Amino acid sequence: MCGIVGYIGPDNAAPILLNGLSKLEYRGYDSAGIAIYNNGKIEIVREVGKLANLYQTTDGGSAMPGAPGIGHTRWATHGRPSERNAHPHSTERFSLVHNGIIENTQYLKKKYLSKVSFDSETDTEIIVRMLQTFCDGGEEPFTAIAHIISEVEGSYALAIMDREHPEVIYAVKNKSPLLVGRGDGFNMIGSDAMAMIKHTNTFYELMDREFAVLTCDSVEIYTRYGKHVKREPFTADLDLTDTEKGTYPHYMLKEIEEQPVVIRRIIEEYTNENGDLTINDKILKDLKECDKVYMIACGTSYHAALVGCKMLESLAGKSASAYISSEFEYDMPILSQKPLFVFISQSGETADSRAVMVNVKEKGYKTLTITNVKGSTLSREAEHTLLLYAGPEISVASTKAYTAQIAVLAVLASCVAGKKCPLDLKYELSVAANVIEGLCSERDSYKELAREYVGDSTRCFYIGRGLDYFVCLEGALKMKEISYVQTEGFAAGELKHGTIALIEKDTPVIAIVSQENTDLHTRSNIEEVVSRGAKVLTISRSGLSMKKDSIIVGDVAEILTPLVTVVPTQYLAYYVALLHDRDIDKPRNLAKSVTVG
Ligand code: M6R
Repeated sequence: MCGIVGYIGPDNAAPILLNGLSKLEYRGYDSAGIAIYNNGKIEIVREVGKLANLYQTTDGGSAMPGAPGIGHTRWATHGRPSERNAHPHSTERFSLVHNGIIENTQYLKKKYLSKVSFDSETDTEIIVRMLQTFCDGGEEPFTAIAHIISEVEGSYALAIMDREHPEVIYAVKNKSPLLVGRGDGFNMIGSDAMAMIKHTNTFYELMDREFAVLTCDSVEIYTRYGKHVKREPFTADLDLTDTEKGTYPHYMLKEIEEQPVVIRRIIEEYTNENGDLTINDKILKDLKECDKVYMIACGTSYHAALVGCKMLESLAGKSASAYISSEFEYDMPILSQKPLFVFISQSGETADSRAVMVNVKEKGYKTLTITNVKGSTLSREAEHTLLLYAGPEISVASTKAYTAQIAVLAVLASCVAGKKCPLDLKYELSVAANVIEGLCSERDSYKELAREYVGDSTRCFYIGRGLDYFVCLEGALKMKEISYVQTEGFAAGELKHGTIALIEKDTPVIAIVSQENTDLHTRSNIEEVVSRGAKVLTISRSGLSMKKDSIIVGDVAEILTPLVTVVPTQYLAYYVALLHDRDIDKPRNLAKSVTVG
């Protein structure tokens, strides 16, 4: 969702902002804009559509000399995507960009802005108008910002410029992600480290309802009461090349093929000096002492949670259930006596999951976040964190984060099981990494299968049972989100209860067969759809495979099969999307971090 970049320093800001915004494109957006201070004026350019439009209008930034500057990619929430609604929003004195949603707009308008007319349909404009109104009333920007924080409800990350004081820019944060980057003779603001990593790897974290005052040489952080906060910076171990596509045509393809490396990295990160898989003692204690694990997640992370619950139950005998965050938030089941809440989120910023986190923390329950982003909101707010070590995932379609989540959940389950764990998990995970590597080397054949089985069909089905069913849900999500082919994942046994009515000549059905106790049942479901004319592409596990199967994945421990069976489904989604000429890394209407609920 919306991306923010700010720069104050000796160089021209525009090219720096454009580059930073390009690193935030993965978050999803529909318009973009920048504001640059130059010779006593703040100049603004905003464009609907791709960032390339903004590059073009500003001639790569060179048509807009000056500094400081702020920039923004907008993902429309209040008001349709248009130049008028794009950020920055401005008054005669201030320019501001915003990520988040203001919840009490009516109250604020009535209380402070009843005589003000607005240029846009956005909630954001209210903040810049309040700033102007407070300063017109005699407040200094510093106190006006503190005043705004005390009045505005909702989520907001802001970067602000003041035409009368070009020697400062401001960063303000509540619930939406925002970092301050510290440089030598310059400073920056960014929605995440990737927007700034080209210039600095040293960052300050802002807590909710804090703000920062940046000059070229200083960063000062304050609470909403204007009290100075002493905060140590942290260094991000992020490599610039992690954020580049290299020779790959799309981030998604790169990220699919990084999966073996990610699994090996997880093994390494979670291995202790004795060579055993391990997790932090306190986490283990809480896991062992709870009577049930509640996994909370959305989308792909929810699909990983479904697998994780099975792992906890089958490897460690620990009761566990997975819930979709936005459902759990409004319809909480009767909880067990001693629950532990595990939040699974690639970004660590997902608003629906955070809403549950706030709720269960208020009730005093213990929380663990499994995330790819160190220092993310869900990580900071949980008692414990386990990291995925997957490296930045840029493509909106999640691939390596899914396998990383499953691998980390497997480590967690095996640690809870301890000596009773029926598997040598470390060994089995490395086998899975090797099998994935083998699957990646077959990518050309998936391209062919995607064309042959799905081609230009407008719909598609995934069927499977048990763990295969969970992978079907994930495979279907991937296919629909990037190719826009309507795809549904079904428990194979459910077909005859309704869905089979949709099967007709040439309907593409992708079946997954990797579970020993159900393979024959799924095979008979395959026959049922074949006899009604479906084109069936079968992904099976060697050992359970048949000659006519299209994709045979190497043998891995049965509980780890989702790690490997998912890989062909990722490729199939990728190649079908390519056939349909889709914007693979940035599918329509979607954002990478869904920071609004
Ligand atoms: O960052 P999170 O893991 O919390 O995100 C959850 C979902 O929004 C995410 O997995 C989404 O479903 C992906 N686009 C799927 O590829």
